[in-house]
Amino acid sequence: MPSLYIALMHGEVVDKTGNEISSSLTHFDVHDIARSCRSYGIAQYFVVTPLETMRYLAQRLISYWKSGLGSHTIPNRQDALDVVEVAIDLTEVVDRIADREEQPPRIVFTSARAGSATVSYEELGEAIRSGDRPVLVLFGTAYGLSDSVVCRCEDRLPPIRDGEWNHLSVRSAVAITLDRLIGETKK
Ligand SMILES: C[S@@+](CC[C@H](N)C(=O)[O-])C[C@H]1O[C@@H](n2cnc3c(N)ncnc32)[C@H](O)[C@@H]1O
Repeated sequence: MPSLYIALMHGEVVDKTGNEISSSLTHFDVHDIARSCRSYGIAQYFVVTPLETMRYLAQRLISYWKSGLGSHTIPNRQDALDVVEVAIDLTEVVDRIADREEQPPRIVFTSARAGSATVSYEELGEAIRSGDRPVLVLFGTAYGLSDSVVCRCEDRLPPIRDGEWNHLSVRSAVAITLDRLIGETKK
């Protein structure tokens, strides 16, 4: 399986004035994105937040579905939640991937904003399938990723529905991106 990783950034994101902030966790983002990641065979989905209370909340949500009441009411959701890990910041995510893969990932970011992409969905999909190097795709929250994150990325994917009204929920953006990168594996 190609090594594609996803990170949802709650730290190092900006508010509507462009100031760097940390955003709150949204419980739907934890399990809905996990379900998309599980469906598309993603190696790991990192929920990234510098806030201890938010990491605690994320762990509580994960354990609810993996071993709490949720594991009895909807047992197959445990499989999806297996893909989720909680991390403090991008450095921790990159270090964990590098440990697992024995090389650092190619970091790629997404945004709804107009801007020049440096890689197409087709090219990145091809790179993922080649398995030469792990790929980490970053998604933002609030008003998007801060420059401190963007400047650590090697590439930017094109906005989905560029030039049109395109402010997707991050859950939708992840699902569409995964389908564009991986699509169906059985024809
Ligand atoms: C609520 S949006 C943040 C909006 C912000 N204006 C931006 O796109 O950077 C949260 C995240 O969803 C993703 N996203 C939302 N709409 C998108 C689109 N049309 N194309 C690509 N990514 C999108 C991006 O990762 C974005 O950081």
